Amino acid sequence: MKILTILPAILLSIAAFAQEQRNETILKDWEFRKGHDIEATDGWESVKVPHDWAIYGPFDRENDLQRVAVIQNGEYIPSDKTGRTGGLPYMGKGAYRRNINISEQELDGRRHVLLFDGAMSEAQVYVNGEKVCFWPYGYNSFHCDVTKQLQSGVNEVVVLLENRPQSSRWYPGAGLYRKVRHLTLPQIHVPVWGTYITTPHICNEYASVRIKTKVNGVDSGTIVTVKTRILDAQGNEVAHETDTRTIHNGEVEQNLTVGSPELWSPENPALYYAETEIHTGGSIDTDWNMERPAITITHGSQLQDKVSTRFGFRTIEVRPDKGFFLNGQARKFRGVCQHHDLGPLGAAINRSALRRQLTILKDMGCDAIRTSHNMPAEELIELCDEMGFMVMCENFDEWDIAKCENGYHRFFNLDSGNGQIWAERDMINMLHHYRNNASIVMWSIGNEVPSQWKEEGVQVAAWLQDICHREDPTRPVTCGMDQYNSVVLNGFAEQLDIVGFNYKVDRYIPAYQVLPQRLILGSETASTVSSRGVYHFPAQLGAAIMHEDHQSSSYDTEFCWWSNIPDNDFAADQDYPWCMGQFVWTGFDYLGEPSPYDTDAWPNHSSVFGIVDLASIPKDRYYLYRSQWNRNDNTLHVLPHWNWEGREGKVTPVFVYTSYPSAELFINGVSQGVRTFAKSDGSTPCLGEKAMERFRLMWKEVTYQPGELKVVAYDDNGNVAEEKVVRTAGQAAAIRLTPDRMSLKADAEDLCYLNVSLTDKDGNPVPTDNRLVKVKVSGAGSFKAIANGDPTCLEPFQQPQMHLFSGQLTVLIQSGEVPGDIVVEVSGKGVKKAVVTLQAE
Ligand code: GAL
Repeated sequence: MKILTILPAILLSIAAFAQEQRNETILKDWEFRKGHDIEATDGWESVKVPHDWAIYGPFDRENDLQRVAVIQNGEYIPSDKTGRTGGLPYMGKGAYRRNINISEQELDGRRHVLLFDGAMSEAQVYVNGEKVCFWPYGYNSFHCDVTKQLQSGVNEVVVLLENRPQSSRWYPGAGLYRKVRHLTLPQIHVPVWGTYITTPHICNEYASVRIKTKVNGVDSGTIVTVKTRILDAQGNEVAHETDTRTIHNGEVEQNLTVGSPELWSPENPALYYAETEIHTGGSIDTDWNMERPAITITHGSQLQDKVSTRFGFRTIEVRPDKGFFLNGQARKFRGVCQHHDLGPLGAAINRSALRRQLTILKDMGCDAIRTSHNMPAEELIELCDEMGFMVMCENFDEWDIAKCENGYHRFFNLDSGNGQIWAERDMINMLHHYRNNASIVMWSIGNEVPSQWKEEGVQVAAWLQDICHREDPTRPVTCGMDQYNSVVLNGFAEQLDIVGFNYKVDRYIPAYQVLPQRLILGSETASTVSSRGVYHFPAQLGAAIMHEDHQSSSYDTEFCWWSNIPDNDFAADQDYPWCMGQFVWTGFDYLGEPSPYDTDAWPNHSSVFGIVDLASIPKDRYYLYRSQWNRNDNTLHVLPHWNWEGREGKVTPVFVYTSYPSAELFINGVSQGVRTFAKSDGSTPCLGEKAMERFRLMWKEVTYQPGELKVVAYDDNGNVAEEKVVRTAGQAAAIRLTPDRMSLKADAEDLCYLNVSLTDKDGNPVPTDNRLVKVKVSGAGSFKAIANGDPTCLEPFQQPQMHLFSGQLTVLIQSGEVPGDIVVEVSGKGVKKAVVTLQAE
C-alpha cells in the first residue's frame, strides 16, 4: 500500500492554488472594423460584445436583395425578395481585436480556452497572429485551446468573420453577437461542457443522479478522487459522494441518491446544483485474497479543479395515443417558435431583453419555446430553466441541400478537420452544451429541410437522430416537416421519435392513422399575420391578403397560403387527444421574412407573424392565445379600437377574446346581443369560420358610431364577471409613459422597456396618432434603442426619436454601472411631455 504523508499546511496551499487556477473572464471590450484588413490603423471603433454590427443600419432595399424563387413557399419563378434578411447590412466581412494580458505564472501548465457562444459567421480566430480555430456555423457555441499561442505579457486576439449574401432566410445578425469568454483551467481539469448529469430514476421518495465527469490533463490509469455535493436552490446539501477511481476513457461516473426530489416543471421550475471537485493524491490498494478479498481506498486531497453544474429532476414520456407527459402528467405544448433576434437590439444577446420576452409569454400562458431554427443563446436556456419553459432545441434550417445559395449546406458534409463532418461536430457541441438543462425536453434535428423528399434525406435524418440518442439517450427527437405526403410515405417521419408537422392540421388525421408513433406534434403552427392596431375592412378570412398600406389586419384573419388562423390549431389541440400541442410561428415578430410583403414590397423589413410585435408590445392575437392558455388569470379583450372617423354607419366588426363563457356588447349603451362560444359539432378537422366560432366571440354586423364600446363578460352562472370599455378618443393632449419596471440593476446591461403612448385630455388612449416623439435620458442610465413595431418604418433603432405606430412605441433604457436616478423625458409637438424617474440600484 502507498502511504502518503503530506503536511497539512502544504496540502492547504495546493488546494488554494488549484482553486485559483480556474478563472472565467467575459471579454466585453473589443475593437471592431468592417473588412478583414487588420493591419489598418484607422477605422477601428471600440465596441462592447455582444455586438451586432448590422443593426445600426441603415435599412436599404439593396441590402442582400435576393432574386430567388422560394421553393418551400411554392415559387418557381425568381423574383426580388425585398427585406428578406431585414434590409440591414449584415453581409460582408468584419474583424474584432483585443488584447489579453497573461502573467508568467498563468503559463505554468494551466490551459487557456477561448469560448464563443456564437459568432456570425465563418469565424476564424487568431492569437498572436496564429490561426487557432475556424467555426463556420454562426449559431453554434465553440471553443479553442489557445495555450500554445499565448506568451507572458500582452497577447492579441483577432476574430475575422464573414457573412455571405444570400446566406439566410431571415435576419441573422452579424459579428460577435453572443458572449466571448477566456477560461483559465488548471492543468488537471474538467473541460468545457465536461459534466453530463442524468436522473435515471425519479419517484416521490427519491431520485438517482448519475454524473459523468470528464477529467483532462491526466493519463488513463491515473487515480482521481471525485467529490460531488448536490445542493438545492437554497444552497442546502441534499446528497454527497466521494469516489476514488482509476480513470478510464477520461471520465469518472458517480451515482447519488437524493431524497424527496422537488420536480422541475413550468409551474415550479425547481433547480439543483452538482458541485464537483477533482482531487489527486489518493490510492486504491487491492488484495484479491481468495478467502478475504480486501480493498483499501484513500481519497485524494489535492484539489485540482472545481465545477458547478445546474440540473433538475423531471420525467419526460411520450405515450402513443396519449401524448406528452411531464412528471407523469399529460400536457399539450402551449409553445411558440422564436427567432434569435431581439428586435431593435438585433442579434446582440441581452439577458434582460430575453427575460422581458419570456415574462410577456409567461403571462400569455405559454409554457414552451422552440429555438427555431438554430442553436439558442445560453442566456435563453438558463432563463427557460429558471422561469419554467420547456424547450425544443433545434439546430438546422438546412442540411446538405440548399434553401439559400450560401446557407449552411456548404458546410454540412465538409470535413471539419477532426475526422467529423461539420454536421456532426455542430450537433455534438449543441448536445454537450445543453444536455444538463432541465428545460430542454426534446431535440429537433431540423426544419423543413428539402431532404425530406429524398431517399438520402431519410438516411441523413436517421443519422442525425442517432447522434442525439448516442450523446443524450434521455430526450426524444423530432424534426419540423412540411412535405407531409412525402415524409409519411418515404419513411422519413416513421423513424423519428416524434412526428413534428409544420401547419396543415388537416393532414394530422391521415398521418396519425398511418404512422407508428400514433402522435403528432404541431412543431410549427398558425403563421397568422397581423400588424398591431391596424384593421382592414371588410374583416376577411383569407390567405395572402395584401393591403395598400403594406400591413396585415389585426382582426387576426389573415395568413399565408401554407398557414392558418390560430383557431384551427386550438381546435386540433382540443379535438385530438394524440395531438401533443403546438409551437406557434411566432411568439415575437422578428427582423426579415416580411411575408406577405416579401416580393418587391420594400420598405417592409420585418415579419408580422408575431403574437407580440417587434417593439415587444402585444398584438390583439396575444389575448386570443391568453384566453386559451393562461390557466390562472381571466382574459377579456375587445377589438378593434373605436376611433373610426369616416366609418360612421359602416359595418365595423367587434371581436372579443376572453376566457369567460359569454359576453354582451354595448355600443353607446345599446346592447348588440350576447354571444357564447360554439361547441364542437364533432367534425374534424375543424377549420376557418367554424373554428373561429369556438374560440372568439364575434359581432360581425355592428356599425360604427363614435362613443363607447363596452363589453360585459358573464360567468358560468350568467353573473357579470368583468367589464371592458373602449372610448373614441379626442385629440392627443399628453404623453403617457408606462415602464415595465422602476428599478434596474446597476450592471450596465439591465434594461427597462418603457411604453410610450398618447392620451386625450380625458386620459383615453389615442390609437391612431403617429406623431414623432423625442427621448432624453440623463443620470445613471442611457438610451439604448427605440422601436414602434411598424414593419415598414425605416427610422433607425438607435436614434432617440421615432414616430409612434398605432399610437405607441417602446424605448429601451439601459442602466449604467453606478447606482442612481435615471431620468427619462419624452416629448412630442403639441402634446404635454412626460417624465419618469427610474432607479439603478
Ligand atoms: C415555415 C418556416 C419558418 C417560416 C414560416 C413562415 O414554413 O419553417 O421558418 O418561414 O414558414 O410562415
